[in-house]
Amino acid sequence: MAFMDFSASAIRILLILILFLDPISAIEYPQELINELFPYLMNNNINSSYTISPEPTKIPIPNSPQNSSPLAPALFVIGDSSVDCGTNNFLGTFARADRLPYGRDFDTHQPTGRFCNGRIPVDYLAMRLGLPFVPSYLGQTGSVNDMIRGVNYASAGAGIIFSSGSELGQHISLTQQIQQVMDTFQQFILSMGEDATYDLFSNSIFYVSIGSNDYIHYYLRNVSNVQSLFLPWSFNQFLAQTMKQEIKNLYNANVRNVVVVGLAPIGCAPYYLWLYQSENGQCIEKINNMIMEFNFAMRFMVQELNQELLEANIVFCDAFEGSMDIIKNHDRYGESLDSCLHFKRFNVTTDACCGLGKYRGWIMCISPDMACNNASNHIWWDQFHPTDSVNEILADNIWSGMHTSMCYPMNLQEMIAHNAKR
Ligand SMILES: *[C@@H]1O[C@H](CO)[C@@H](O)[C@H](O)[C@H]1NC(C)=O
Ligand SMILES: *[C@@H]1O[C@H](CO)[C@@H](O)[C@H](O)[C@H]1NC(C)=O
Ligand SMILES: *[C@@H]1O[C@H](CO)[C@@H](O)[C@H](O)[C@H]1NC(C)=O
Ligand SMILES: *[C@@H]1O[C@H](CO)[C@@H](O)[C@H](O)[C@H]1NC(C)=O
Repeated sequence: MAFMDFSASAIRILLILILFLDPISAIEYPQELINELFPYLMNNNINSSYTISPEPTKIPIPNSPQNSSPLAPALFVIGDSSVDCGTNNFLGTFARADRLPYGRDFDTHQPTGRFCNGRIPVDYLAMRLGLPFVPSYLGQTGSVNDMIRGVNYASAGAGIIFSSGSELGQHISLTQQIQQVMDTFQQFILSMGEDATYDLFSNSIFYVSIGSNDYIHYYLRNVSNVQSLFLPWSFNQFLAQTMKQEIKNLYNANVRNVVVVGLAPIGCAPYYLWLYQSENGQCIEKINNMIMEFNFAMRFMVQELNQELLEANIVFCDAFEGSMDIIKNHDRYGESLDSCLHFKRFNVTTDACCGLGKYRGWIMCISPDMACNNASNHIWWDQFHPTDSVNEILADNIWSGMHTSMCYPMNLQEMIAHNAKR
């Protein structure tokens, strides 16, 4: 199947499937669809004809304070589809956002690999820091010059557990991303010397946003009977301990400033509203309870690390709190942010902008016809990912707690001020 024909014929096949599958078997659709429709995605052959290798793209820096010096030398990003900015465009995977309508409201109005209509939180934070948008590790030339302001290693489908998300195809897991950071570290040392590299790493910001696929593609799917072996509490302890070890590995490469971002309320995502046949868009409490526990375990782990690691500056930002504040108080956001406009921001709080089925949560977003006209009044862009508007609010909260305070023990702006005093 030629790549160009892919989305048009995929929609046709999906529509036929909708007619023939009953809702019960459709519940298993990610696995089934992938196995049936896209067997070539599963053979791990990165040379398949659909794999294109886009040229590294230079994205212009919007409104960046060009003249003032940045508040941190670089921003490094580790994570999953919440912050992937193009890694998966280079991998053989079903989890790619390289076609419209993804990116339609981005600065370039082109798909980039971001799982959003526009910008992701790290884009907004890069601007706050006075840095350009951070390029994807696989999308840049590999020269130190391209990486000196930061690198984004995040890969959609990746989890803290190596095999989370593997039914989607290839991804770069947390451990592999940390390995890539180490490779970058070595490359910097060879090119700039040890002192300059140690300085750069210790003053840069490392942003880690990962874990939702350990739920979406592992625990909630009961892979390898995991639900019988681990209660959510011990599963979360396991994830937190794994994350702790990886942050220690970063610390050994002289990383000092880390922002660990918790999980969003996955139980409110359109996919789960559809799957659990939510009434009136009520969030799936069972899932959200596990997510809150995850965030609690991570927050506690971060607190421990700050005590264990000398001069470490690690903050935990609770995306659940920030997102629930938007979902619950969406009217207030409309008034406070756009008082001059005659519309309520976020009057669509349950339905995705792009997708098909109830809550637009059944079939994933793969074509512009599936999308609403204007995403800015939606909380959810697709089955799992928030809109640009939500990402901006979350980034503002991480930066300064602008709308609601969600970072512990301090927000990013305070962390930078704290560093400046040292
Ligand atoms: C993939 O392509 C490269 C270069 O075209 C080739 O060297 C390699 O053998 C191919 N790998 C597979 C698995 O076909
Ligand atoms: C998970 O899978 C195992 C084996 O397939 C099954 O025995 C168990 O009941 C499942 N657990 C849940 C909560 O569905
Ligand atoms: C949300 O607001 C827009 C703009 O006022 C309106 O067109 C749309 O119908 C509203 N949607 C809902 C679900 O209220
Ligand atoms: C979306 O709606 C808002 C409010 O109605 C409006 O300000 C904005 O220009 C619209 N965006 C697009 C792309 O139509």
